[in-house]
Amino acid sequence: METSKRLEGIGEYYFSKKLREIDALNKAGKDIISLGIGSPDLPPHPDVIKVLHEESLKPTTHAYQSYKGSPVLRNAVSNWYKKWYAVDLDADSEILPLIGSKEGIMHICMTYLDAGDEVLIPNPGYPTYKAAAAIAGANCLYYDLKEAQDWFPDLEALEKTDLGKVKLMFVNYPHMPTGQLATPELFRQLVRFAKKHKILLVHDNPYSFILNENPLSLLNIEGAKDCVLELNSLSKSHNMAGWRIGVLCGAKKYIDDILRFKSNMDSGMFLPLQLAAAKALTLGKDWHDSVNKTYTARREKVFELLDLLQCTYAKNQAGMFVWASIPATCENGFELSDKVLYQSNVFITPGGIFGSAGDKYVRVSLCCKAEKIQEAIKRINNN
Ligand SMILES: Cc1ncc(COP(=O)(O)O)c(C=O)c1O
Repeated sequence: METSKRLEGIGEYYFSKKLREIDALNKAGKDIISLGIGSPDLPPHPDVIKVLHEESLKPTTHAYQSYKGSPVLRNAVSNWYKKWYAVDLDADSEILPLIGSKEGIMHICMTYLDAGDEVLIPNPGYPTYKAAAAIAGANCLYYDLKEAQDWFPDLEALEKTDLGKVKLMFVNYPHMPTGQLATPELFRQLVRFAKKHKILLVHDNPYSFILNENPLSLLNIEGAKDCVLELNSLSKSHNMAGWRIGVLCGAKKYIDDILRFKSNMDSGMFLPLQLAAAKALTLGKDWHDSVNKTYTARREKVFELLDLLQCTYAKNQAGMFVWASIPATCENGFELSDKVLYQSNVFITPGGIFGSAGDKYVRVSLCCKAEKIQEAIKRINNN
């Protein structure tokens, strides 16, 4: 059976393949230390697990749920946005819980894109934007992010190009993989740009609580609801990646459009998960501080590891990775990643998987215990 045309050019996700290779190396006795993916190894807050447990024991919590999510979770998201981002969201009409923000990226593309439409995608950026836009049949237009310009888009240069067919633009700050934070001024410029060119801005915001004291929402900018959808997630901020809890926020009209698609794809999330997620969203600054304390200590170790590899990096990156420029002696990040994997049994991610503008970089995850990072340093030192 041939696969559909829409899958042409869509390969298996890089990490899905690479983790298989690492599994095989482990089975062959290599004991690889993986500093690859951003899957928090720390647990959620115990109160969150308690809610999941208690709600699961009730006989009444196992039925199909509402397509638009439990009102308890939607209210919790609304309060969370007010408290941390100073954004007002109507819990009934402007919030759509998601099975992880990754699925939201696909839903948005399937809801708004037809063949021939164009989508602006950051290079480097999260690979799912490209895959989702391409599966929906649209053409991807990449906008380069450059270290010299603080990894901000060059909106002036973009305005000189033909934007007539562009319907969506993906943006993501704190940016993955570079760890760059946004500024309110950048967000204002983006909203102006989107309004002028009638583009729907999709802001992917899962990293705003990790190694960052000032979480920002693009929806905080005046007039943003006309042209902004924001994705958020509990995967990183609350150590709940495997739970698959995300959220889409924006004006009622957009949420209604996307629900038309999403309600045909799934039948709601398990209620105890939603209630536990609502609990997680009430956690205070002390929770985020404690998680960030761990990441800060690990990051110091990762800096040491990168120094050993003669990589250079900015020290003030947000998110759960360190993005680093490779030494001139390496052709690209793939070469360095392979060298470290095969010589030292340590996996770091080549920056090229995030787009051509990431070719000369590598990304190291902080989702690994400090002792393991120390062991990785030792192995690299010995080779
Ligand atoms: C930039 C970015 N967006 C979205 C996601 C997906 O997050 P979720 O677990 O909410 O689907 C990730 C996960 O790695 C990510 O790095």
